[in-house]
Amino acid sequence: MPSPRKLPAAMQEAAEALRGGGLVAFPTETVYGLGADAENPAAVARIFAAKGRPADHPLIVHIANPGQLTHWAKGIPPAAWLLAQRYWPGPLTLILRRASRVPDIVTGGQDTVGLRVPDHPLALALLKAFGGGIAAPSANRFGRVSPTTAAHVREELGEAMDFILDGGPCRVGIESTILDLSGHQPRLLRPGAVTIAGIEAVLEQPIAQSGNDAPRAPGMLRSHYAPETPVCLVPGANLETAARRRLAQGQRAAVLAMPATLLPKACHRQDMPTHPAGWARELYARLRALDTQSFDCILIEVPPIGANWQAVRDRLERAASAHGEPGELLSTGRQPF
Ligand code: TXA
Ligand code: MG
Repeated sequence: MPSPRKLPAAMQEAAEALRGGGLVAFPTETVYGLGADAENPAAVARIFAAKGRPADHPLIVHIANPGQLTHWAKGIPPAAWLLAQRYWPGPLTLILRRASRVPDIVTGGQDTVGLRVPDHPLALALLKAFGGGIAAPSANRFGRVSPTTAAHVREELGEAMDFILDGGPCRVGIESTILDLSGHQPRLLRPGAVTIAGIEAVLEQPIAQSGNDAPRAPGMLRSHYAPETPVCLVPGANLETAARRRLAQGQRAAVLAMPATLLPKACHRQDMPTHPAGWARELYARLRALDTQSFDCILIEVPPIGANWQAVRDRLERAASAHGEPGELLSTGRQPF
């Protein structure tokens, strides 16, 4: 199995692996990515094979700086430049009309391409050493929780990659905000750390929020992406009752809750941070760890309503499954990222 190496020789080696059509896992500020040379269709095909990802799910191309946008996209609207200036490097992916050189396999055959400049020193160093664009989805198997440490990547993808760069735990912890700028009105496809309010403030116009939840390949997708252990979302006021009911049924229940929420002693309790950035940073690692401990269920307190919690709520709804009981909120069956 590939192991992390010391930099910068490792960086040259990783760039060399990309040039040779290999797969390199690397940290970003959001989650770890599984990268390949975005202009090498055979290399990109290896990503789909390693993840078990359907071919019609397009990949994000990571670039070193906004100046490279014109290499990958055409008809770039002023809004893209404004947002790139404000948020890149950072957790914002822009969907733009694709340039003809972008391979079909990267875009799932669509006429648009997703682009972002990641805000992580190792990702930026790799992009610089490589020189081209790196197509990279999150470095997890399709339908599973995104990895926020190099250990998560190793556990899940093992031998599938040629090189792994270990940059420690990811600072943001959930995937980037995705904004579609290819139509008449900017449209949010995935909430993330860059908020709608932030984007609207830069663009001085409202953005639409219809989402990209229509499954592209109905029936092929799991209805949720999640740990194996059933996850249920429960409002804080109902959490104690819900946990008692599970315990009375002889279940082993793990609970992720706000520190002030009351819970029975017998459940395995983990307090979550009180602010959305903390939830985002910790959520996936907590779910992965709990998933190895043979709990019958993971109950998660529904976080507060409010724009700052939108991205965390979105990920929780995707992770929740249809195993709940009355009083527990269930997943809307959203697509995995
Ligand atoms: O934070 C992130 O965005 C991470 C890091 C590694 O950059 N990447 C990531 O990639 O989350 P992935 O492949 O797991 O999720 C990318 C999402 C998918 O839901 C895909 O459908 C959407 O981006 N996407 C990519 N290109 C698109 C396009 N041209 N049009 C619409 N959606 C697109
Ligand atoms: Mg993903």
